[in-house]
Amino acid sequence: MNTGSKDRDWAAYYAKTGDRPPRDTLVFALDRFDAAPGGTPRLAVDLGAGSGRDVIEMLRRGWRVLAIDAEPDAIDFLKARPDLPPEADLSGMVSRFEDADWPECDLVNSSFALPLCTPAEFERVWRRIETSLRPGGRFAGQLYGDRDSWAGREGITFHTRADIEALLAGFEIERLEEEEDDSVTPRGEAKHWHVFHIVARVRLSDV
Ligand SMILES: C[S@@+](CC[C@H](N)C(=O)[O-])C[C@H]1O[C@@H](n2cnc3c(N)ncnc32)[C@H](O)[C@@H]1O
Repeated sequence: MNTGSKDRDWAAYYAKTGDRPPRDTLVFALDRFDAAPGGTPRLAVDLGAGSGRDVIEMLRRGWRVLAIDAEPDAIDFLKARPDLPPEADLSGMVSRFEDADWPECDLVNSSFALPLCTPAEFERVWRRIETSLRPGGRFAGQLYGDRDSWAGREGITFHTRADIEALLAGFEIERLEEEEDDSVTPRGEAKHWHVFHIVARVRLSDV
């Protein structure tokens, strides 16, 4: 499992993880979209895109992608990737997701990144995600559970199972897996992981 804290060396993380395959939650979500009506490419927003392991998969499948990351290194790394498809419709934005604005879209993907939002701002960012999704649009990504060994770290948001269910009340839950595991981070730090893996679709009747 790969993730990180707010103060990590992101450039080293990008170099280490950039060529890894896309996250299962992203692949699961992409597989559930029909062909876009009229052949118009669908738009995905990747919050905390990092080195772009998910972005590459979306582009490969013909999606338009807006990649948002607080680290300029992430967007630079992504735009310099040799495996970018030749006709890729990719935009990059250097911004905290707490400060970012993005257009209406079909998918908001945030793999191991959205918890790195301050608790005070999380609810507002989540509402922004909800309101930006088109009818039938999806959220895919991870949130951290309250039994994670990083729980309580400043600037990171953790949720109970009940919190997650409340956040997803306006969605049809397509995948919700709760994982607890003792392992090490890519930096060799022992850690108890408590992670919710989520794919959820905006309820058509609510939009
Ligand atoms: C653990 S990495 C995950 C990267 C990628 N999504 C993946 O699955 O490999 C988290 C990413 O979130 C970015 N990040 C952290 N806090 C952020 C924030 N508040 N706003 C935007 N990006 C943030 C970091 O710069 C980093 O690229």
